[in-house]
Amino acid sequence: AAAAATAAPDKAAAPASAGFMEEGIPAAGESEPFIKLGGLSDHVEGILRCRRIVFIACGTSYHACLVARKTLEEFAAMPVVVELAGDFMDREAPVFRDDTCVFVSQSGETADTLRALEYAKAKGALCVGITNTVGSAISNATHCGVHLNAGFEIGVASTKAYTSQIVALTMMALLLGADSRAKMPKRIAAMRALARLPDDAREVLELDASMHKLAEQLKDAQSLIFFGRGYNFSTALEAALKVKEVALIHSEGINAGEMKHGPLALVDENLPIVVIATQDAMHRKMESVIQQLLARSAKLVILCNTGDDAMTQFEGRGCTLIRVPRTVDALQPIINIIPLQLLSYHLTTLRGFNVDQPRNLAKSVTVT
Ligand code: F6R
Repeated sequence: AAAAATAAPDKAAAPASAGFMEEGIPAAGESEPFIKLGGLSDHVEGILRCRRIVFIACGTSYHACLVARKTLEEFAAMPVVVELAGDFMDREAPVFRDDTCVFVSQSGETADTLRALEYAKAKGALCVGITNTVGSAISNATHCGVHLNAGFEIGVASTKAYTSQIVALTMMALLLGADSRAKMPKRIAAMRALARLPDDAREVLELDASMHKLAEQLKDAQSLIFFGRGYNFSTALEAALKVKEVALIHSEGINAGEMKHGPLALVDENLPIVVIATQDAMHRKMESVIQQLLARSAKLVILCNTGDDAMTQFEGRGCTLIRVPRTVDALQPIINIIPLQLLSYHLTTLRGFNVDQPRNLAKSVTVT
């Protein structure tokens, strides 16, 4: 059964936990770090030879795939396409036998993703599953894959699965990029940053009280916009999805590169905007976005790194700053989403809604 080909839980990508280092990433100062994903090891050569990688998922899992697209491009220089499972099937998009299709799903049961898997398999593509549920339909039907081992997710809104999906997909990208000598220093830095991730996550969780305070200020907003780009376009989309699904506030995640192509018309002193401006490759561009938004009297919350002096000036201009620890660019979305998940949580409880069971939603969407 394909389930047997999928990574055994103890060998698969683990969530950010202390056990993580025991599974192949020594701490700084120890011998050279390496990545091991037992469920993929027999297929790495095949994946490296493929025409392209096609990620297929829905909702939050789709957002994790958007991060993975950039990580694979950056570390493995592979052509990557990301597809919403439902849209992919509506189009009956072409799939080739030398494609690798990666199906990402927390539940492993999402009907659209499962249908796309059956379709891609019939076309002869190698099908990889990244799921959080051992024995689920997607993990059983894929040729190989990775179990997240993030633990059972109780709430309907996907949170720890999202961060764990990014961890697993980053590990996959680092594994596939292992032969690039030019990328080696960056790769080692990313592996060391993975090992530090639990500490960074613990640090960012200390923002809980500040996020509660911010939620008190934003709880009556009609709409909330998130701007991000590069790796953090996904953070903007995911934060907006969380705010809309649990806090029931209209929210949009916008690629900051598109700001002048329409969204700027919405900006005035009444629309709260969260700008994700951590110190990755997009930092300069995001600083310019902030300047342009402030020139239109925007009411801004800026998510930036601890010690980023360039952002301090904006405090004096009425902006609220959320400071998070710096990690490598590829992992920064994991750290950045945590305070925004906390913000969504506090907005929800302050508005009197049930954070675990959002209106009209089910944990797994098993119908198309
Ligand atoms: C959002 C959320 C949904 C799921 C989507 C896919 O918080 O939970 O958007 O991410 O329904 O579900 P899975 O990952 O189980 O395929």
